[in-house]
Amino acid sequence: MLADKDRIFTNLYGMHDRSLAGARSRGQWDDTKGIVARGRDAIIEEMKTSGLRGRGGAGFPTGLKWSFMPKESDGRPHYLVVNADESEPGTCKDREIMRHDPHTLIEGCLIASFCMGANACYIYIRGEYIREREALQAAIDECYDAGLLGANAAQTGWDFDLYLVHGAGAYICGEETALLESLEGKKGMPRMKPPFPAGAGLYGCPTTVNNVESIAVVPTILRRGGEWFAGFGRKNNTGTKLFAISGHVNEPCVVEEAMSIPFEELIDKHCGGIRGGWDNLKAVIPGGSSVPLLPADTAREAIMDFDWLRERQSGLGTAAVIVMDQSTDVIKAIWRLSKFYKHESCGQCTPCREGTGWMMRVMDRLVQGDAEPAEIDMLLDVTKQVEGHTICALGDAAAWPIQGLIRHFRDEIEERIAHKRRRPVPFAAE
Ligand code: NAI
Ligand code: SF4
Repeated sequence: MLADKDRIFTNLYGMHDRSLAGARSRGQWDDTKGIVARGRDAIIEEMKTSGLRGRGGAGFPTGLKWSFMPKESDGRPHYLVVNADESEPGTCKDREIMRHDPHTLIEGCLIASFCMGANACYIYIRGEYIREREALQAAIDECYDAGLLGANAAQTGWDFDLYLVHGAGAYICGEETALLESLEGKKGMPRMKPPFPAGAGLYGCPTTVNNVESIAVVPTILRRGGEWFAGFGRKNNTGTKLFAISGHVNEPCVVEEAMSIPFEELIDKHCGGIRGGWDNLKAVIPGGSSVPLLPADTAREAIMDFDWLRERQSGLGTAAVIVMDQSTDVIKAIWRLSKFYKHESCGQCTPCREGTGWMMRVMDRLVQGDAEPAEIDMLLDVTKQVEGHTICALGDAAAWPIQGLIRHFRDEIEERIAHKRRRPVPFAAE
């Protein structure tokens, strides 16, 4: 279990003073000037040493992403954009940072922006996050008053402005290029990549888009060293990580732990175990709704990191762990996600626009057992037609949970169809 002294988020539960004075008493904003004085190349090298992989879900190496930004300006401004749209079902970790530990993020924005040659940073916050926006804005205002933002921010010699922009509640605006479109005042529709944002991002200028947690850990990594951060977890899966655990555990929570913690340890130490005991576990979605679920036996062996879960055809994603006990109708749970993705598709590419509707309609029937057994393979085939054939990852995200359901719970789907033939009454009223 991660020792208290190794926690980056020292006020995750809001037990202490979240104001600037409180943050300073916990070591934040300590010699920010000295960190910036190390220079861009040294900071990026330290980030690479830390092994930090993006905490928004995709796990792309942060130091590498930063190194894609042009070193010199060609006349276009550079931008940092922080993705605080956090809309992945089950995910609520960035919310806790913004509510209770906002100065970790603001200081990270200054350092990262300096590193990328950006004099302005935009934090795009989820439409439903009203209290979080208020807390973050109050912290930003405090920083301006204290000279930590604005001209010669924190006496670093770097002029830096930080803007908080409120989204309007569309899931797709969490996709980085849809987010950029939305920031530009347009409809939130993903762009084709490449070009990646480092080449042409906000207003066509070099931009880095990073998740809240990815930026908020930066100051501590630079204070304590990349090697320190890399000492947690295992090769290629390093650092501390916020896990948001919900569902059928005794005490759902958000907790900072070492990467690669065994699933059983995570649940026993922080959530008081599975509701009804470990034998009552049925399935787990380990990383937010976009990743395929795991059956109980695999979940109980799980090492909670990017590579272990990917090798089991699942993923760490946002580390939003959704636990389902034996009382769960898993077909209905995945049907509900299908409905969500159909609703949130922006509709600009055909496999996603049409495919999410197709998948949901077949799931509508499967959840009732009102289908032919052959439709299970037909549905699987449709998921393969959608996966990898769309502009953004929403198409994959709609396909993968269904693939996981069929991979691990095909017998339950078949039994429901057989049950309906024996007893043709609605399975579950909707
Ligand atoms: P991605 O793998 O396409 O990209 C990840 C990041 O790396 C992006 O910033 C991208 O610009 C950069 N990148 C990738 N390849 C690059 C290259 N060759 N050159 C330069 N930059 C490159 O994944 P994406 O679509 O950004 O994210 C998908 C993930 O987002 C899903 O796995 C899901 O877990 C997560 N997600 C998180 C949500 C949340 O609420 N936090 C909501 C929905 C999805
Ligand atoms: Fe829009 Fe879906 Fe295509 Fe993404 S995959 S661009 S959400 S239609």
